[in-house]
Amino acid sequence: MTAAEKPILLDVNGLTVSFATDRGMVKAVRDVSFSVREGEILSIVGESGSGKSVTLLSLLGLHDRKTTRVDGMVAFRGRGILDLNPSELRRIRGREIGLISQDPMTALNPVYTIGWQIAEQIRAHEAISARAAKKRAVELLGEVGLSNPQEAVDRYPHQLSGGMRQRAVIAMALSCNPALLVADEPTTALDVTVQAQVLDLLLRLRKDFGSAIILITHDMGVVSEVADRVAVMYAGRIVERGETEAMFKSPLHPYSWGLMGSIPPLTGPRLARLKSIPGMPPTPDRIGEGCGFAPRCAFARPACLERPPLRMIGTQAALCILEEPERSALRRTVLSPEEFA
Ligand SMILES: Nc1ncnc2c1ncn2[C@@H]1O[C@H](COP(=O)(O)OP(=O)(O)OP(=O)(O)O)[C@@H](O)[C@H]1O
Ligand SMILES: [Mg+2]
Repeated sequence: MTAAEKPILLDVNGLTVSFATDRGMVKAVRDVSFSVREGEILSIVGESGSGKSVTLLSLLGLHDRKTTRVDGMVAFRGRGILDLNPSELRRIRGREIGLISQDPMTALNPVYTIGWQIAEQIRAHEAISARAAKKRAVELLGEVGLSNPQEAVDRYPHQLSGGMRQRAVIAMALSCNPALLVADEPTTALDVTVQAQVLDLLLRLRKDFGSAIILITHDMGVVSEVADRVAVMYAGRIVERGETEAMFKSPLHPYSWGLMGSIPPLTGPRLARLKSIPGMPPTPDRIGEGCGFAPRCAFARPACLERPPLRMIGTQAALCILEEPERSALRRTVLSPEEFA
């Protein structure tokens, strides 16, 4: 079975997340749709504040229910999960979906030692003794690069540094061999050598247990190396998604041009000059119906103020008004391979 024929594990359709603020309800995530097949790695990329974490936390039910409104449909293994009660969701999160959150405290309970928390997670799956589970917890903490796992295992979260806490969360997420691992910038807080080690652990999870992974990262090199598919977020929307190779070779959306061109890809054109995009991304209260990127897009036109149309080419889908052959011609002005010849 090829990856594209594997069953869909997670299906997200029209996910919209709004927060209650003193200026009324503000939409931080708009009409986001994507799916993840068994064993697949999907990378979500995009500027800070584009809605990556909000998307993942809300679909896992980790939002504050008092101030957050979540609309749309999310199915895990064919079962709608947005309407599950918190305890049912917690059971799925601990056993079938592992979470490495950007803020480690989302995943840790402050009143238990990290060793206890990892051991509990293991024992939720395997019939092993508390002693064996704790031994496994020490091994896992060693594997994620904690220098003194024997000692760290008996510490409470607040007694660990930020980087150590992040590693504890990674160990915990790996301990349940989840069908789906959601990893929100899992290596950002770690040193370079440990980053590679942790990435290897994530990949091993897929190899050994067929786990699917949603990986949020700012490292486009990692994306091009490990992801099967990529989703690009901008101002609360997925502005483009598709298979990794195609996305790096011929990104459709002008926002993706700069992003995908910012690393030397294995194939396809390289960016002539690494330009940062002038301007700032809009905050959620300033995003309208039109294309959120238009104010910074060098190719914007009046029609971009309206809801952007969906363009599809091969495995790629993008929200942008540009059509061929104009799109390719404009893209060449940004990515000009000749200058590297
Ligand atoms: N509880 C909340 N109340 C109001 N606004 C929020 C809340 N949580 C997040 N936001 C806003 O939603 C937007 C998206 O935030 P999010 O954390 O998803 O960004 P991100 O893409 O993960 O960024 P980064 O790369 O910095 O982690 C931001 O503008 C943020 O300020
Ligand atoms: Mg984030």
